[in-house]
Amino acid sequence: MSEKMWGGRFAAGTDSLVEAFTASIQVDRRLYAEDIRGSMAHARMLGRVGVLTEAEAEAIVTGLAQVQQEIVEDRLPFVDALEDIHMHVESRLTEIIGDVGKKLHTGRSRNDQVATDLRLYTRGCLDDLVQGLQHLQNVFIDLAEREVETILPGLTHMQVAQPVSFGHHCMAYVEMFHRDTQRLFDARRRVNVLPLGAAALAGTTFPIDRWDVARQLGFEAVAENSLDAVSDRDFVMEVLSDLAILAVHLSRLSEELILWMSAPFGFIDLPDGFCTGSSIMPQKKNPDVAEIIRGKSGRVIGDLVAILVLMKGQPLAYNRDNQEDKETFFDALDQMRASVEIMGRMLPGLQTRPAVMRAQAERGFATATDLADYLVRKGLPFRDAHAVVGRAVRLAQERNIGLEAMPLADLQALSPLIGREVYEVLVLEGSLAARDHLGGTAPRQVQAAILRARERLQREAL
Ligand code: ARG
Repeated sequence: MSEKMWGGRFAAGTDSLVEAFTASIQVDRRLYAEDIRGSMAHARMLGRVGVLTEAEAEAIVTGLAQVQQEIVEDRLPFVDALEDIHMHVESRLTEIIGDVGKKLHTGRSRNDQVATDLRLYTRGCLDDLVQGLQHLQNVFIDLAEREVETILPGLTHMQVAQPVSFGHHCMAYVEMFHRDTQRLFDARRRVNVLPLGAAALAGTTFPIDRWDVARQLGFEAVAENSLDAVSDRDFVMEVLSDLAILAVHLSRLSEELILWMSAPFGFIDLPDGFCTGSSIMPQKKNPDVAEIIRGKSGRVIGDLVAILVLMKGQPLAYNRDNQEDKETFFDALDQMRASVEIMGRMLPGLQTRPAVMRAQAERGFATATDLADYLVRKGLPFRDAHAVVGRAVRLAQERNIGLEAMPLADLQALSPLIGREVYEVLVLEGSLAARDHLGGTAPRQVQAAILRARERLQREAL
């Protein structure tokens, strides 16, 4: 007979290659705490409903605590022969407390067990990630407050468009990371559902109390259908989708940091502790952290695609394919947690170069729209105003000067509506201040947005 815990019906042992190939312990060992917590809850429940005696349940819970201690202290060897974390815990439990340990698996299967472990683990990761994202929002809000008055050439099509406040730009990321936080919050409700009790796929013949287990483990709901409970990995797909969106946000931010720090831009400097040098070019200071975070997005998007394709062809209920859900999922969770954390540490040290940003905004005719709006206020239809200003820009470009340096007579030759006060609207600060409505870049509005974002964070803090 095979030595395996499931070996009764096998005449021969497992091929050694197969043993190594099917084992998941190196990946799922990180679920040990959740596995033990879930087993304790299951054993206590079995004791309460009378499937086990109270003394048996007690012995199992005490034994499990010892297994946990051994794993924490790195004293439990992990071996392929025991396949996964569930088998390791159960077999060590039985070594410690004897035959009573063999009763733990009553009314349960590894199928509902692994689903439970993974949901518990995911819930913990979501809470950590939400905290990290809330911190990152705070970092951006502080940066925005510092740079409310700093002028940045706002771009569309990567061409200078209109001046914005650097603080306003920072607050755009607060909005993105706020939505990321909301998405994870929302996913948490669907993650926090108990599969245990579904057993292999059909439920169990024992009089279990699933709500008892749910309450012990902090689940808000109990999965309604046993087949779905063991085979559903929607929660992995959903969280991975959210992580992929987050990764894209972090990547866009990284791209901006990288561009802004390059010599042709020269808008910012990142702290030395977060950059590295070149082994050949002595002058180099490279924004590697931002580059690596930008690179992580490819990985996390790949992780999402992996789970989608993994699930696509699977009939109900549990299939061993599902074991492949963890490696990529853990990867995405790890990478995003680390990226959010390091971004939150790097950004407070970001230094802006306001004079450079200002000069670029001036060179790019960033106040052209302001001039058009000025003519509209003087009664010219917008389309006509657009054409007048277009001609003014062409003229200024030929002379290699900014709009604000154009002599009044030349401007008036283009439109008699233009008066001396036109120069006020051509000033970058005036352009910012004029966009004075909810969501606009006027410093007053950015201040108000900062206040609202702080209040929102306070309300939503975990
Ligand atoms: N290691 C497995 C997984 O991650 C646990 C469940 C295995 N169930 C089974 N019947 N072989 O999915």
